[in-house]
Amino acid sequence: MKKAISILLALCMVLSLCSFALADEGKTVGIAMPTKSLERWNRDGEYLQKQFEEAGYEAKLVYSDNDIEQQNNDIANLIADGVDLLIISAIDGESLTQTLADAKDAGIPVIAYDRLIMNTDAISYYVSFDNYTVGVLQGQFVIDTLGLDLEDTSTTYNIEFTAGDPADNNAGFFFGGAMDTLKPYIDAGILNVPSGKTEFEQVATPAWSTDTALENMQNTLASYYSDGTVLDVALCSNDSTALGVAQAIGSDYAGDNQPLVTGQDGDIANLQNIVDGKQTMTVYKNVSDEAGATLALGKAILAGETPAEDLLDSLGAEASYDTESYDNGTGIIPSYLLVPYVITADNLQMLVDTGLYQWDADNHYLESTAETT
Ligand code: BGC
Repeated sequence: MKKAISILLALCMVLSLCSFALADEGKTVGIAMPTKSLERWNRDGEYLQKQFEEAGYEAKLVYSDNDIEQQNNDIANLIADGVDLLIISAIDGESLTQTLADAKDAGIPVIAYDRLIMNTDAISYYVSFDNYTVGVLQGQFVIDTLGLDLEDTSTTYNIEFTAGDPADNNAGFFFGGAMDTLKPYIDAGILNVPSGKTEFEQVATPAWSTDTALENMQNTLASYYSDGTVLDVALCSNDSTALGVAQAIGSDYAGDNQPLVTGQDGDIANLQNIVDGKQTMTVYKNVSDEAGATLALGKAILAGETPAEDLLDSLGAEASYDTESYDNGTGIIPSYLLVPYVITADNLQMLVDTGLYQWDADNHYLESTAETT
């Protein structure tokens, strides 16, 4: 009798677990990405949708054409559709407050994906890379490649900065990491900035636009380098801006050296520029891993858990749990931060090893294995 009861109990437990799992898997996730016009978000959207669908969820994916009003409307529609979880990469981190208040009222948890969303208490978690470290890696790359030494001021170099979109909370972290790393060398007179533009506001690039970065660099070259001044480094926060800067150097720079050009993301056009010597490095962020970490977090939230540091083991990628760095104006947002790394012409094979890129037919350039890029 006792045995029969325990078998019955075990059966009940299995059944209730199964129905719980099924209920979870039948849930719908709303994914809001900023734009298809910047390469990486095509990959992010594809990986997120695919990974959530493969885990048994319905996944509704929207892109908002870098238009703030459209993103508010798109998210409002996802809320009206009754999604169970929102994953949002904001176009403007400051502009979603009212819409996300509605999400909170509807009891929909929100994960800020890659970009922190400001001034709203509706955000449960933030998943991103260590954004400050991205900038540090770029700055350190310049120091290592030029062999800079604070004790040796005999050789000096010229550098110009191009930063990201002021509406994107990440942009300040990237610039800050690079500037903090290079500032001692600027202060020592080893690195000079002929344009004098060392503040974020002076070098920011709205919407991370390639065309704006191109134009700004053309202006800088015309104003400060047309007399033969040598440009040694163009520190660019990401690949979309690096693309414009490399183009400006190709067309408007009079010197015969190839300046170091930094970037971030591993966009296909930039990887080509790296092979062709027009860009020197990119800080690579594996967005398939970022999607995977978001899935692990989303699953836990939808299962009614309150994940913390313990989730790190289930993320499927190296990451840290940070409860200090990201205050969105309403308090600290617990963050899972993945690890970025440096890619140059010498280690492109590392990207192929992720399975997310492949060599082209001539074994010369890389192609993405994602369907949308
Ligand atoms: C992302 C970068 C990206 C930039 C422009 C940032 O928020 O973190 O990876 O290059 O947006 O798309």
